[in-house]
Amino acid sequence: MYFRPLRLFKFIITFISIIILIYELRRLLHSPSLTPSSEDQHTQQIPQQPIPTADIQHVSHTLPPFYISLPHFSDDEAKIWFYNSSYYKFHSKLCADGTCESRGVLFNNTKEHLSVNTFLVPNGLYLNDECGYNYGDAALKRTFHSTDETTVIYDKAIIFTVPDGWSFQHFLDGVGPKLAHSHSYLQQYPDAKVLILKGARFDRSVQEIWSMLGVENEQRIVHYSSNMKVGARLLINPCRTPGIHPRLWQDARLMYWSISGLLKTNSSAPSERKNFIYIQRTSTNAMNSGRLIVNEQAFVEVLRAYCAKHSLNYVQYDHSKDTGHIRSRIELFYNARVIIGVHSGALSNMNFAQSGTTVIEVMPYRSGSSSLPMTCSMFRVEDMKACAGYILYTQAQLLNQSYWMLPFVVNGESNLNVDLNRVQKLLDQI
Ligand SMILES: *[C@@H]1O[C@H](CO)[C@@H](O)[C@H](O)[C@H]1NC(C)=O
Ligand SMILES: *[C@@H]1O[C@H](CO)[C@@H](O)[C@H](O)[C@H]1NC(C)=O
Ligand SMILES: *[C@@H]1O[C@H](CO)[C@@H](O)[C@H](O)[C@H]1NC(C)=O
Ligand SMILES: *[C@@H]1O[C@H](CO)[C@@H](O)[C@H](O)[C@H]1NC(C)=O
Repeated sequence: MYFRPLRLFKFIITFISIIILIYELRRLLHSPSLTPSSEDQHTQQIPQQPIPTADIQHVSHTLPPFYISLPHFSDDEAKIWFYNSSYYKFHSKLCADGTCESRGVLFNNTKEHLSVNTFLVPNGLYLNDECGYNYGDAALKRTFHSTDETTVIYDKAIIFTVPDGWSFQHFLDGVGPKLAHSHSYLQQYPDAKVLILKGARFDRSVQEIWSMLGVENEQRIVHYSSNMKVGARLLINPCRTPGIHPRLWQDARLMYWSISGLLKTNSSAPSERKNFIYIQRTSTNAMNSGRLIVNEQAFVEVLRAYCAKHSLNYVQYDHSKDTGHIRSRIELFYNARVIIGVHSGALSNMNFAQSGTTVIEVMPYRSGSSSLPMTCSMFRVEDMKACAGYILYTQAQLLNQSYWMLPFVVNGESNLNVDLNRVQKLLDQI
């Protein structure tokens, strides 16, 4: 026998042609209309039949208007500093005449502050819409009619695509209030996917909270990126909801306590809570430079002396050294009587602390400038875009805590030398 390449070649060609023919015949016979537009595994699960139409369900309620009271101030310097801020100049217009100091700022815009909504949309289509109270009507009710309009189709999905929701801080201030009114859907539909924005990281503490809610990263979290067109046979959308309302924030807090097993015991009275927590900012644990206390050792001595006098546990909290499960941290702050720290994201752990907890925020500012670390323009009332500096104050008030603001001017390196007499004077008033 000798080798005949031409014959072998002819044989292979014939074989391939037959395979293609069989494949095409099967395709024509079995798949009359829809062809999946993506190779994604989930797309394969779509039944090959017309998509049923059902009505959109809208679940909503309206919360009462609320007030945010002014911070407590331990001295005139602190008070004048705040009253001079553009934040105060802008918001004090929202106080009824002369009631800013007694009642605080009124929040009474139906759409922005009061109206809580969930939409359940059959065959809903999500296209990178911003998850917030401004969610448009058309976007809320958007549906898909063929798989070509999607890159992926899930059976059920819930949207929590708030900016930076993968980070601890913005999970608490962005996702938390949405979860407060919608977390029951996570249990009701234990197979539903959960959409959050894809980020540079996915903070461990955030993964742990989701996990305690029954949402495991690998199985249920979808890290959404803007080019995805997500269809869901049931799309659950809790986004059109106020970012701030005391009810939502306190309900979210109750949820964190509940999943951590803290509600089995009676909520401890303020006098029984013993933790005095100093949230320490260091050059290694902070994302941005600056805002360090130059005379920290002396500052800590003042705090320790206060704790000794009042039989409190002094706790120095450095989040970068906290390797425990988030559950322990929730318990630590649940038992806080006082939380003190320089303005920084780690202060948002106050979300786990009870009503009535004293929160002291040391506010670093640069005199005569609107740049960081003084995050709000001091002089131009109309310039509100950089007012994130007051987010922790707002949070503490939403959580019904007792909030004190203690501003200190920074040095050339944006660090602060804390006046210990002013600190002592404040501690004597709480
Ligand atoms: C700050 O407040 C003080 C006292 O109310 C006032 O005299 C001063 O002009 C204010 N400064 C600015 C920059 O608004
Ligand atoms: C809130 O606004 C509504 C009108 O939208 C008004 O009727 C109501 O009196 C306001 N509430 C308060 C406390 O001012
Ligand atoms: C909570 O406190 C009440 C009244 O003090 C008491 O009757 C009840 O047994 C307590 N519950 C728990 C779980 O400790
Ligand atoms: C706010 O906290 C105080 C305790 O500091 C409590 O007496 C009051 O009932 C709380 N109010 C709300 C609305 O939770």
